[in-house]
Amino acid sequence: MTIDTKAQAVVYPPSPDFVAKAHINAERYEELYKASIADPEAFWGAEGKRIDWIKPYTKVKDVDFTLGQVSIKWFEDGTLNVAANCIDRHLETRGDQTAIIWEPDDPADEALHISYRELHRSVCKMANILQDMGVRKSDRVVIYLPMVPEAAYAMLACARIGAVHSVVFAGFSPDALGARVNGCDAKVVITSDFAPRGGRKTALKSNTDKALLHCKDSVKVLMVRRTGDQTTWIEGRDHDYNALFLEADDTQAPVEVGAEDPLFILYTSGSTGQPKGVVHTSGGYIVFAGMTHKYTFDYHDGDVFWCTADVGWVTGHSYIIYGPLANGATTLMFEGVPTFPDAGRFWAVCEKHKVNQFYTAPTAIRALMGQGKEWVEKYDLSDLKLLGTVGEPINPEAWNWYNEVVGKGTRPIVDTWWQTETGGHLLTPLPGATAAKPGSATKPFFGVEPVVLDPQSGEEIHETAAEGVLCIKSSWPAQMRTVWGDHERFEQTYFSDYKGYYFSGDGCRRDADGDYWITGRVDDVINVSGHRMGTAEVESALVAHETVAEAAVVGYPHDIKGQGIYCYVTLMNGVEPSDDLRKTLRNFVRQEIGPIASPDLIQWAPGLPKTRSGKIMRRILRKIAEDDYGALGDISTLADPSVVDDLIENRMNKS
Ligand code: WT7
Repeated sequence: MTIDTKAQAVVYPPSPDFVAKAHINAERYEELYKASIADPEAFWGAEGKRIDWIKPYTKVKDVDFTLGQVSIKWFEDGTLNVAANCIDRHLETRGDQTAIIWEPDDPADEALHISYRELHRSVCKMANILQDMGVRKSDRVVIYLPMVPEAAYAMLACARIGAVHSVVFAGFSPDALGARVNGCDAKVVITSDFAPRGGRKTALKSNTDKALLHCKDSVKVLMVRRTGDQTTWIEGRDHDYNALFLEADDTQAPVEVGAEDPLFILYTSGSTGQPKGVVHTSGGYIVFAGMTHKYTFDYHDGDVFWCTADVGWVTGHSYIIYGPLANGATTLMFEGVPTFPDAGRFWAVCEKHKVNQFYTAPTAIRALMGQGKEWVEKYDLSDLKLLGTVGEPINPEAWNWYNEVVGKGTRPIVDTWWQTETGGHLLTPLPGATAAKPGSATKPFFGVEPVVLDPQSGEEIHETAAEGVLCIKSSWPAQMRTVWGDHERFEQTYFSDYKGYYFSGDGCRRDADGDYWITGRVDDVINVSGHRMGTAEVESALVAHETVAEAAVVGYPHDIKGQGIYCYVTLMNGVEPSDDLRKTLRNFVRQEIGPIASPDLIQWAPGLPKTRSGKIMRRILRKIAEDDYGALGDISTLADPSVVDDLIENRMNKS
């Protein structure tokens, strides 16, 4: 460890031991990175060969970031099958190797070790079941499952038959599920009876029934039995996976798809409106997911890799399923939560399955840090070689705890910055090459050209030390291609504010060493426990309640979640505010969106600060929620500046 005075940060260079064994060292990174930027065609033309193509590509990159004609294509004339790349091509060399280790919610239940051969068999069966239910190439399938092996089978079965999956996190409400089924016009929803998590059960089948009340009658359900508890059953619509599985043929010829055929849709929150369906295609995505998994985590054959995310998020797509399996890895899938049955669970699982790379979110680290290091010290973590984080900026305290208590000061930490839209890591240390700094996502991955723009002028800042908004100058293979059904929204969201660049929505600082530090979202998106939430979504849920006249939602600093959800609510005339009403509204939002959108603080606001043209001044609301109203800035443009005093007086977040 050294103190870098230029960057004012503590620097952790990779240890010589790690460097000696790593895929990429500092010289190699420099060399490859330069090559990747100087000649992307040649670089990606060669990297594309890390996967098997049915028909090899002759074109590598065809990209236009111009507003009005945004078009992104990689390897466009190649054909492949993503599932065959994740399974079939490994059968000869590693058919008996474990592909997936499944660790159930309850540690008393048995873990599963699913070999590549068994994975092949189950995925073929699931593919045949889906085909028998009428699913064909390019049809959409919604997957609403707990973290069970069948979630992996379902994703890969879709990929195998060329169908497009849209995984919906099992914590989402029936309304959110229904909107996603309709949003992509899905033919089938794959769900389970219940989802056990942290010792409790969510009724997924019953949620699905409720969701489908608002969907086409033709939508079919395939239900996996997880707990075996009683559920409702609609003859004709509902299909019993476990019964069909016994009968299904265990071979199935993978369908040939184009590199630019969609692989999946994943809904994510934006600054305005309802969540949008991010579309990822097949060829570029699988190349980039595999490559980033291998290099960022320095994955070597035989290692056990554990990403603690849920497959309902992009992290689960790229780093539980597609990246690891494309590399023939052993990937761990965990059904439970970090604190069940106790705060030692993560470390118990690491010990039990001899985990080599462990990848989690800062919010989980902070929560466990609060429980004390005894929980970590009870377990043998000697197999760990590397630690990773994702989802939000990590505060130095949490980084240090992760490093010292979990990593015993000897494991590299990779802080990976990326997004649902980017498909894979864009900024991250490479563990054998990059000196880590607590809180910095450090350097760009191969082929990625980050730029810092001045938010006012939109001009690129060329000095190394810079602060502004983070944009990416040219495409990488796993970039999202469009918003499902709304290409214009895609262009408007990502290519209109800063012409010619992909705009990430994040602010950042680049230090004198050229390392990037993400400072957080610059739009109306908040990051709650590493989950992205549009404040507009929470607002529209609140105003849907009969007692609410108006609502404004902002984020505020929260010790564990990173950001909490702070709601200013103006009630309808004559409605009395009360703690009971707070509870009612909180539950209402949970019902409308899901528990992850649960308001932390609700302040009754007789009026909201608005400009004379009626626009809510969120800057002011943010300051009050942060309990930092000393510097409110100019409030003279407000239609009624007096509302601000009341809001300050009654703020919920007094320190
Ligand atoms: C937003 C993307 C794909 C990762 C899971 C979340 C924030 C993500 C980091 C990081 C600082 C981070 C950004 C980004 N974010 N990783 N390492 N350091 N911030 O995916 O839901 O699409 O959210 O998460 O603000 O824009 P997502």
